[in-house]
Amino acid sequence: MYFSARLQPAILALAAASLATTTSAIAQQAAQTPPMGWNSWNYFARNVDDKGIRAAADQIIASGMKDAGYVYVNIDDTWEGKRDENGVLHTNEKFPDMKALADYVHSKGLKIGIYSSPGPKTCAGFEGSLGHEEQDAKMYAEWGIDYLKYDLCSFRQAVMQKEAPDDKAAQMRLMFAAYDKMGKALKATGRPIVYSLCQYGWDNVWEWGPSVNANLWRTTGDIQARWQSIYDLLSQQKGLTSYAAPGHWNDPDMLEVGNGKLSLAENRSHFSMWAMLAAPLLAGNDLPNMKPEIKDILTRREIIAIDQDPLGKQARYIYSSGQMEVWQRDLQGGAKAIAILNVGSDVNATHPFRLELAKLGLTGHERATDLWTGKVLELTDHMPIELGSHDILLLRIAEPR
Ligand code: GLA
Repeated sequence: MYFSARLQPAILALAAASLATTTSAIAQQAAQTPPMGWNSWNYFARNVDDKGIRAAADQIIASGMKDAGYVYVNIDDTWEGKRDENGVLHTNEKFPDMKALADYVHSKGLKIGIYSSPGPKTCAGFEGSLGHEEQDAKMYAEWGIDYLKYDLCSFRQAVMQKEAPDDKAAQMRLMFAAYDKMGKALKATGRPIVYSLCQYGWDNVWEWGPSVNANLWRTTGDIQARWQSIYDLLSQQKGLTSYAAPGHWNDPDMLEVGNGKLSLAENRSHFSMWAMLAAPLLAGNDLPNMKPEIKDILTRREIIAIDQDPLGKQARYIYSSGQMEVWQRDLQGGAKAIAILNVGSDVNATHPFRLELAKLGLTGHERATDLWTGKVLELTDHMPIELGSHDILLLRIAEPR
């Protein structure tokens, strides 16, 4: 996590001015539903290379993930080499030929993503795009890149703090301008490239992200493969519902499903809640060594369908009682998804929780499908529900009364 403070939006006027001109362009872009794919950072971090990306692409197909909707194979930080005398950024020795790699990924019917920073250096200290935005965007397009994650990193120290040391509002304007610059540079290439902002939610990015042509924006600091991190990020999504829509999405960070020591219940809950949030589903695990139960979670069609619902409405937090939280999402055709999540850590606690249908705008005696078991349930008002620690009940009501 790089920043914790949230500043008042300083650039809304600027954002509004350019929003009108970009709306039609956004509508034509990709990401009409939240992007799905895989990213190298959460598991491999700096150990990503050409071979690993090819293996990930192969495995997305072999595991059935492609058939389930995963498309993007995204290279995160540490692919960058040095710039030559013409400013051309070369790859480092881990990526001998980026165009050939992109061709390989495309030959599998998949898309490829890359990573950079508006600063002079990326977060891992590699070469950023500062001063070379158009040149880099053009190169990405020539390589056949389909997705760019653009990570603030050193832009904060090197530009924001340097040029406007005591003026937060001016710093935010500089940040906005940097993201706007790359958004325009990508657009100028004529290639549809999904534009993913990574500046940890600063300055209420959800309010101005669409105006810089962004398709998604991180709303928080970095995720970690621990329940507390996942739950913290989930909690920070309350109140952001209205900012997600086809073409532009809140991004609570990439998936940790299958990573660290997350229990199966935690993996299920993490995946379910990211689907409820209409979050990008970017797996971040070691695909060639994926356990069958993790593959089952990542490829669960019914849950993916919640994430990818064409209405594009992110879930709302409704209420909590004891250790249980209830979230609800409106789906196409009047259907609803309801998540009941035991966020408590006490595995021995009994949870005398009763579902209050009125709080969900429901009248009682609803037929719902439990999306993890496939069982059909009759929901009645005040019905007791028991869940283990960090486990979830994810329900779909096709025809609410
Ligand atoms: C930041 C981002 C991460 C990852 C790393 C790479 O921390 O938030 O998602 O991209 O940089 O250095």
